[in-house]
Amino acid sequence: MKKIDLIEVDSTNEYCKREDRGEDLIVTAKRQTAGKGTKGRSFLSPDGGLYLSVLRHYEGYPASQTFHIMVDSCVAVCKTVEKFGVTPVIRWSNDVLVDGLKISGTLIENSFCGDRIVRSIVGIGINVNNILPPELKGIATSLRIVTGKMLDYEEFRRELTDHLTKKYTLEDYKYFMPWLGSQVVLQMNEERKTVKAIDVAEDGRLVVQREGKEVVVSAAEVSLRF
Ligand code: BTN
Repeated sequence: MKKIDLIEVDSTNEYCKREDRGEDLIVTAKRQTAGKGTKGRSFLSPDGGLYLSVLRHYEGYPASQTFHIMVDSCVAVCKTVEKFGVTPVIRWSNDVLVDGLKISGTLIENSFCGDRIVRSIVGIGINVNNILPPELKGIATSLRIVTGKMLDYEEFRRELTDHLTKKYTLEDYKYFMPWLGSQVVLQMNEERKTVKAIDVAEDGRLVVQREGKEVVVSAAEVSLRF
């Protein structure tokens, strides 16, 4: 897969869309001026963080398998973080936390042809050595904070891009969810409900026990709190 390393870009996801010539790419940037998060939010992307997108084309990847794209990217982030001596936890469905605070988020933008995915752009932002603004206190952390030292940025980038070329399983994904089997809080619009998290289904939905009954919820409907 062709690799492009940029110093600055608006958004690595947008770069992939603009520069798509039909070839698969991994694009990294040292900073973004218009980083995008999920739910239309912006994603602060200062120097010291790693911002990356993987552009892939498919002959026709079944839309029913969409979740596996998330599995591969979240597990790649976790395995990379582990290599640096840090224990990551996946907060279903797409955040990676350390010590209960967010260290990485993923924004996946898929293009469909009928019920098939023909192109996916997996955008990952990771707080490596960047300084976090005060408003993210209690919400986010960085590898620099948790390890107490500056990481070798190039080594981290190499490790992550290497892990992103591999395939992982749902079991690999669930390995990083030690909270399965415990009580969690689901936030749905204004409503908060404490439920027992049971499992993650093959399609990526979270299986929970609510008022004695098993129900499945999708990430589009709820967000998760511990
Ligand atoms: C989130 O947690 O809301 C998802 C954040 C995704 C950020 C990454 S950084 C690289 C890629 N380019 C973007 O503009 N966004 C993603």
